[in-house]
Amino acid sequence: MKHINPKNVSINDIQKYLNGGIAPRPIALVSTISEYEENNLSPFSFYNAFGSNPPTIAFSPSRRVRDGSLKDTYYNLISTKQCVVQAVTYNMVEQMSLSSTEYEPYVDEFVKSGFTPVDSMIVKPKRVKESPFQMECKLLDMIPLGKGNGAGNLAICEVVYFHIDDDIFENGIIQPSLIDLVGRNSGDFYTRASGNAIFEVEKPLNKKGIGYDKIPDFIKESHVFSANNLGKFGNSESIPNEEDVFTFIDKLNYFESTEPMFERFYSQKKHKKMLESALFLLKIRNKKAKLFIELSAKIALENNDLDFAWKSVLYSNLI
Ligand SMILES: Cc1cc2nc3c(=O)[nH]c(=O)nc-3n(C[C@H](O)[C@H](O)[C@H](O)COP(=O)(O)O)c2cc1C
Repeated sequence: MKHINPKNVSINDIQKYLNGGIAPRPIALVSTISEYEENNLSPFSFYNAFGSNPPTIAFSPSRRVRDGSLKDTYYNLISTKQCVVQAVTYNMVEQMSLSSTEYEPYVDEFVKSGFTPVDSMIVKPKRVKESPFQMECKLLDMIPLGKGNGAGNLAICEVVYFHIDDDIFENGIIQPSLIDLVGRNSGDFYTRASGNAIFEVEKPLNKKGIGYDKIPDFIKESHVFSANNLGKFGNSESIPNEEDVFTFIDKLNYFESTEPMFERFYSQKKHKKMLESALFLLKIRNKKAKLFIELSAKIALENNDLDFAWKSVLYSNLI
């Protein structure tokens, strides 16, 4: 472990730690205009949403680390109090990066990056046509977070108009794989938030899980279950009793099986077949049967069959 007092390291290093440890960060592609109505477009990844009523977002056009100077976006926001913030998708990432070039204030980064400007409904800065998620914003406050090199300036904005592409919705929500966002990591690294990177975790919103502390010790001590597996057990509302466990086991169909057959079901992630196969191996006193039952529980958990997972893992402790 590195133990670091920020007062003893360079601003460059601090920036590197923040960029690596707080990641992937969403990217705000911010369009502003100067007092002379010149377009400006720049990305900011010190950015997030902070409230829905009113819809409030914030990002930080910081002072440059190298000399403490302020950026065009900052000056434009102070003078016009308006901007448009757009999401950055995978298809836009190279042009977005191009728009971060430090051109002179009068240079139009729409032209430089090749993005298409379209008129906004309420504010003066243009929207980026290529982004499927655009927010017209008014500046609520600009809070300086210091005066030295690298100091942030928190631009807090209210969203006064959303423009969202119909094609990125599925079942009423914006589907991660359809919007295909990118996030910023350390150095030159980015994350593409789609494909295998997307997974679901059930919200504990309307229920109260038993908690990690109530998971039986034999499960916590098993080498089969990962921290995420245990978190899922802790998110269940109750633990089945012994009678339920035996009823469940009695209803399963035993069939003649072998270790390679179990392994095949395991690789196919078929938790029911795994358990049935393991139960046969238990009957013929195979030494790995108990481990196989735990593995069936693990795969049931990962397939979101929590009831099955509990009953099989509890059975493994009763044999
Ligand atoms: C992905 C990405 C994220 C960035 N995030 C920030 C940020 O959060 N704050 C910042 O001040 N600069 C950030 N930058 C750098 C600015 O985009 C860059 O300084 C830009 O030239 C500023 O333009 P302006 O002077 O036209 O406002 C980022 C650059 C990239 C490529």
